[in-house]
Amino acid sequence: MKFHVALFILAVAFFHGYSADDEDAGRLLASKNVLNQYLVEGRDLTIEYRIYNIGGSAALDVKLEDDTFPEADFDISSGSLVAKWDRIAPNTNVTHAVILRPLKYGYFNFTAATVSYLPSEKSSERQVGYTSAPGEGGIVNSKDFERRFSPHVLDWLVFAVMTLPSLGIPFLLWYSSKSKYDISKAKKN
Ligand SMILES: *[C@@H]1O[C@H](CO)[C@@H](O)[C@H](O)[C@H]1NC(C)=O
Ligand SMILES: *[C@@H]1O[C@H](CO)[C@@H](O)[C@H](O)[C@H]1NC(C)=O
Repeated sequence: MKFHVALFILAVAFFHGYSADDEDAGRLLASKNVLNQYLVEGRDLTIEYRIYNIGGSAALDVKLEDDTFPEADFDISSGSLVAKWDRIAPNTNVTHAVILRPLKYGYFNFTAATVSYLPSEKSSERQVGYTSAPGEGGIVNSKDFERRFSPHVLDWLVFAVMTLPSLGIPFLLWYSSKSKYDISKAKKN
């Protein structure tokens, strides 16, 4: 799925330029990924945010805010669209996840969430940046999804996978003993 590949591209926009004394500052890169392979109306959809401090010092008072999911289109199933960290040390990753339930089907453009933080103890000016944007994804109509991936089909698959070893092993034993018998019979002839 093209959509899935695009998810792992990290991108971030910084509003302020950096000068030499910013080398000691915290500097955050943030990504936003949709973890599901299928996006289905009425079914849980997991969004994962990952923030990485590539700077020389801790980033303080970090706030992640995602206001890109309209209430009319998504319910929050678990978690929150806002997350805060008091500090993120240099060379450290933090992650946050939220589980949403799409209320409608059709194309949805997953766009960037906002990350703001203080780049050092000294600074009082918050840096504002953006996460990567997963891009456009198709949310499947729940009826279509059920028709294609009917729960009965899934039950059968699970059943088949679970019974395969117990059916398979006796068959292999039988098969190998039968073929030994066939070989010895063939030698006698
Ligand atoms: C943090 O995440 C980045 C990007 O995913 C990775 O390259 C880096 O190794 C991670 N660092 C740590 C300390 O986990
Ligand atoms: C999705 O949103 C982004 C940012 O607003 C925009 O640049 C992009 O063109 C949009 N993509 C589609 C397919 O509408």
